[in-house]
Amino acid sequence: MRRERLRRDPVLYEVYLRSFADSNGDGIGDLAGLTSRLDHLVDLGVDGLWLTPVFRSPQFDFGYDVSDYLDIHVEYGSMPDMDALIDAAHTRGLAVILDVIIGHTSIEHFWFREHPDRYIWADQIPNNWLSVFGGSAWRHDEEAGRYYYHRFYPEQPNLNWGNPEVRRAVHEILGFWTGRGVDGFRLDSLDGIAVDPGLQDEPLADPSALRGRERDPWAQYWSLQHVHTCNLPQVLTELKEIATAFPDAALVVEADLPNEQLLPYMRLADCSFAFDFIRAPLDGVALARVIDGAGLAGRGNLAWALSNHDQPRMVSRWGRDLAGVAAVLLLSLPGWSFIYQGDEIGMVDGPGGPDLRDRSGRDAVRHPMQWNRSGGFTTGTPWLPFIDPEVCNVEDQRGAAGSTLEQYRTLIRLRRELRGPVRIVAAEPGFLAFRRGGHTISLNLGDEDHELGPGQLVYMTGRVEPGRLGPRSAVVQVADPDSTGGQPSER
Ligand code: GLC
Ligand code: CA
Repeated sequence: MRRERLRRDPVLYEVYLRSFADSNGDGIGDLAGLTSRLDHLVDLGVDGLWLTPVFRSPQFDFGYDVSDYLDIHVEYGSMPDMDALIDAAHTRGLAVILDVIIGHTSIEHFWFREHPDRYIWADQIPNNWLSVFGGSAWRHDEEAGRYYYHRFYPEQPNLNWGNPEVRRAVHEILGFWTGRGVDGFRLDSLDGIAVDPGLQDEPLADPSALRGRERDPWAQYWSLQHVHTCNLPQVLTELKEIATAFPDAALVVEADLPNEQLLPYMRLADCSFAFDFIRAPLDGVALARVIDGAGLAGRGNLAWALSNHDQPRMVSRWGRDLAGVAAVLLLSLPGWSFIYQGDEIGMVDGPGGPDLRDRSGRDAVRHPMQWNRSGGFTTGTPWLPFIDPEVCNVEDQRGAAGSTLEQYRTLIRLRRELRGPVRIVAAEPGFLAFRRGGHTISLNLGDEDHELGPGQLVYMTGRVEPGRLGPRSAVVQVADPDSTGGQPSER
C-alpha cells in the first residue's frame, strides 16, 4: 500500500541520522531522536524518508562500513528503537527506505576473516584500479599476506559477487529487513558491486567526460574510465534478482553513471539517482539536456537530488536566491525528488569541527540539524558544531510567510497537481522553461529580467511583474482558463 503511494512522483527526505536529532545528550543523532522529530516530515508533506546506515559499524565511513547488518549501531540505539521508528513512520503514512551497502562491508565484519572467499584478493597489486577516496584500491593485509580490493576506504573491503554465497547472504539480510517492515532500500554504490574477474587495468578517461566533476574532491578517481569496476552486466543481473526476490520493496539505485546509462537500472528499480543533475551547473541549456523527456512512459524514474551527505549544499553552491529557484526545479520534476535534511530551512555548508571526522572532506555538509535558536539537536555537545542556528532554524521558519521552510511546503503541495512528462519550452544559458501537463515552470537563472508568457501564477519566488520574470526568480503557472477556453489539461 505504501509502495503504491510511492509510485507516482514521491518526495523523500534524506535523514543523515548522526546529525538529525539526539535523544540522550551524547551529541550524536539517534533513532529515538529521529522518531521524536517525525512530525517535522509530516508538516513538510513528504512521502517517506531515506535513512542513512543504522547498522553496527566501526564508523570509519560513518555507517557505510557495516560490521553487522542484522544489528543496530550502539550510538544510534537498539533494535526496539528501530522497530519503534518504523512503526511511528507508518502510523504517520511515511515510508522508510533503508540504506543498504551490498558492495562492501567493514573490515571488522566477521566474514572478512571467516569467509575470505567472499572478498576479492590478489597476491600482488594486480592493476591500476583506484579507490574513490584516492590512491590504489588495493591494500595489503598482514594476516592473509595478500592484497584485497577496496573501492572506498581501506576499511571497506569489497565483496566478491562472483561467489554465489554473497548473493545468498545479501538476500538474507534484505529479507530480514523487509520482514521488520521497511518499505524499500537505497542500494548504495550499486554500479560497483561487480568487477572484471580478469582484474584488467582501466583505461585513462577522456578529459571531456569529466565536465562537471571539477568540484568533486575525488578527481584522481575520475582520471580513469571504470570499465572493469563499474556497470558490468552482472550488476543488472543482480539488481533483477533483488527486484524479483523482493517485489514489494521499493528500490532506489545509487549508480554514479551518465543518465543514458541509467535506463536499464530505472527499468528494474523504482528510480536511480541522476548524477548528471546533481553535477549540472545552473544553466538552462545544460539542465534541459538532463531533464528533457523525464517521466515519459516506459522510461522509468530518475531520482533527483541537488545535495546530500556527500555533496555541497544548495545555498552554498548558488546563494540563497538561486537555491530558491533550484528548489522549484527539484520539486517539480517527475520521478523521485529528494530533499537533504536542512536544505528545507536553507542551511549552508559549515566549517567542520576542531577534529577532522571524514577523511575525504565531507564534514562541511554534515553539521547538525538546526531546530531552534539554540540548536535543539542535543542537550550535550554536538559531534560537529552548529553553524548558525540563531539565524536559520526550523522553529523560526515554521508558519513564517516567505520562509524557506514554507516555500518547500508549498512546493511539495503543488507537486501533487503536476502531471505528465517534462516538455522543454525554452532553454537558454540563463533561462529554462518547461511544461508538465497544464503547468508551466519558468526559471530565470540569470542576472537580467526575462520575458514571461501569460498564465495564472500558482507559485513564485523572487520578483515577478506582468510579462517579466526578475533575475534569480521562478514561477509556476497554469494556463488561464479565459485564454484557453478550458481547464488546464490533466493526464
Ligand atoms: C555512497 C555514500 C557515501 C559512502 C560511499 C561508500 O556513495 O553516499 O557516503 O561513502 O557510498 O559506501
Ligand atoms: Ca544520541
